[in-house]
Amino acid sequence: MILIIIKFLHYLAIVFAGGVLVGGGVIQSVYTKANEVPNLHVSKILKLLGYIGLVALIILWITGLLLSNIIYNGFSINSAFTIKIIAAGFLLGISIFVNLHVYNSSKKNIPPNKTVMKIATMSGRGLLVIVLIAAAIAFY
Ligand code: HEM
Repeated sequence: MILIIIKFLHYLAIVFAGGVLVGGGVIQSVYTKANEVPNLHVSKILKLLGYIGLVALIILWITGLLLSNIIYNGFSINSAFTIKIIAAGFLLGISIFVNLHVYNSSKKNIPPNKTVMKIATMSGRGLLVIVLIAAAIAFY
């Protein structure tokens, strides 16, 4: 039963992490195409989405660590799994970095750096795809 709950939370967090990347990406691309900067409310939404993404990744890590230890007694499962956790680690790192960057810029009352945000969003998407492919191979 406990395993089912942990797995459910792992899957739920995947939905949230993916939703944040797609939703945030769509909002950003609409503004970029219109050559406008997001207004105050939209900036707040983007900030909140970034924060939700970070919480989702932390939940993925907590539940992932529990699943590996309970089901497989550790992390030496197979090489696809190793790739999965390395990519998940980078994803967590990027999310922490972006949240700190957004927090610092809003404290200074300046918009977040466009290039930083673009590179972070693009690598975030790529890494999430890598994690999902690696998970599909690892637990084939
Ligand atoms: C972005 C982060 C992550 C994503 C998108 C993700 C995605 C997934 C997916 C889609 C599955 C289902 C695979 C299947 O059952 O066929 C899965 C299972 C699993 N994940 Fe993650 N995961 C992430 C992070 C982690 C981390 C950090 C760990 C461990 C440190 C982890 C450990 C596991 C384990 C052990 C399973 C297999 C459970 C089982 O055998 O049923 N995951 N993950």
